Parts: sequence; structure tokens; C-alpha cells
Amino acid sequence: MIKRKLGINIDHVATLRNIRGNNFPSVSKAALVALSSGADSITVHLREDQRHIKPSDVLLLKKILNIPLNLEMALTKKMISFATKVKPEFVCLVPEKRKELTTEGGLNLFYNLSLLKKSILKLKSTNIAVSLFIDPEIRMVKQAIKLKADNIEIHTGSYCNFLNNKNKIKSRLEFNKIKSAAKFASKNNLGVHCGHGLDYISTKNIRAIKEISEYNIGHFVISQSVFDGLSNVIKKLSKIIKN
Ligand code: PXP
Repeated sequence: MIKRKLGINIDHVATLRNIRGNNFPSVSKAALVALSSGADSITVHLREDQRHIKPSDVLLLKKILNIPLNLEMALTKKMISFATKVKPEFVCLVPEKRKELTTEGGLNLFYNLSLLKKSILKLKSTNIAVSLFIDPEIRMVKQAIKLKADNIEIHTGSYCNFLNNKNKIKSRLEFNKIKSAAKFASKNNLGVHCGHGLDYISTKNIRAIKEISEYNIGHFVISQSVFDGLSNVIKKLSKIIKN
């Protein structure tokens, strides 16, 4: 039986902080609250335009945390070099477009292959576990296996959108794609994580897929915290995932 874990993405604490240009709300304080409320790891996405998390946040988090730090980042030489200096426990490679509001779709593991292969090797040789953020497609899972990634993170964004829009047929189809990809990956010894757009309901549904061991949740956590408080939201998610 796989032990399920909760990763809390605190990017949007930094979004709020950056609006006023001072250190409130504090990203490191949010990480410590997440930790004491049941988070198993802290996730941050250092975007190339540094619109929320800054390199200094990543350095500070690495210093103060005693739980794994998961650094999401684009596949660029600059980011790979930063990661190998900071040495987070996990790196999740994601596609990145400057103008997108959030990560739209998974990484195409057939593009930029030479850099992708070299980067995975370099990160792994620095003792960083590599995760690839992909759409729930078997061909992508097969390619992740070939590339010797440690984990995949399945993009749950489309599923969550269909679910929120009450599109039963499409949400069921998307759920089945996630399930097949997770099963295939797990059979082939890849760790299976998931993330994007998750809230209480979608997390509870996805929990039925027993091969998924880690949930990375951000926007919903910070948004729902406006009403219920950060600690309460994380405790509730932790309960949904782990019970
Ligand atoms: N996982 C990955 C790889 C992401 O890029 C993001 C968004 O930064 C998330 C999880 C969290 O998504 P959300 O903020 O929608 O919960």
C-alpha cells in the first residue's frame, strides 16, 4: 500500500506579498504553518519571470525546512544550474510560457530531448529526485520511463476544469486517462504524483487511484485560506488524502 503525501504549493503567498513589495505575508512563515498542519513537502515554482517566488525564497526555504522541498521549474540551463546549487530534494520540470496565467498542459518529453536528457542526468547525479510534469498520456509515461525520471506528476488541470463545469462525460474520460497513466507508470516503477487545479472534491475523487502517492496543491489552498485559515485547509486536505 502506497503512503499518500501532501505537497503544499505556496507560490501565491508570494503573489500576495509581492503586491505590496514588503515581506508580508511571509513565505517562510506559510511554509512553517503548512509543515505543522500536515504538509509532507513544500512546493515552489520559480518562474523565469520571478512573478511570485524569488530565488532568495528558495534559498531561505531550503535552509529552514526539515521536510522535502520540491522546486518546480522550466527546462533551461539557468534553472538547472540554480537547482544543482540549492539541492532541493525534488525538482519537477514543467513547461513554461511567459504570458500564461498558470502552467498550461504538461511538458512535451519529445521536444528539446538533448537538454532534457542532460538535465535529468545532472539533477540525479546531484541527488535530486526528478519529476516530469506530464499530461495523462501513455506515450508520455513511456518516454518518462526511457528518460529514467524518478517520478511523474500527472497534470490534473483538465479533469478539474471539466469537473467544476459539471461536464460528467469529459470529466469521467479525463479521470480514466489519469488512472491508466498512473497504473502504467506505477507498474514500471515510476513514482506517481499529481497536481493542478485540485480542491477538496477533485482530491477526494482522485484518491481512488491508489497508485498516486503525492498531491501538489496550491491555488485552492491559499484561496480557501481566506475563508478558513491556512492551517485548517491543509489539515482538511491532509485528512482527505491520508485517511
Ligand atoms: N504541480 C505543478 C507542476 C504546477 O505547475 C502547479 C502550479 O504551479 C501545481 C502543481 C499546483 O497547481 P494549483 O496551484 O492549481 O493547485
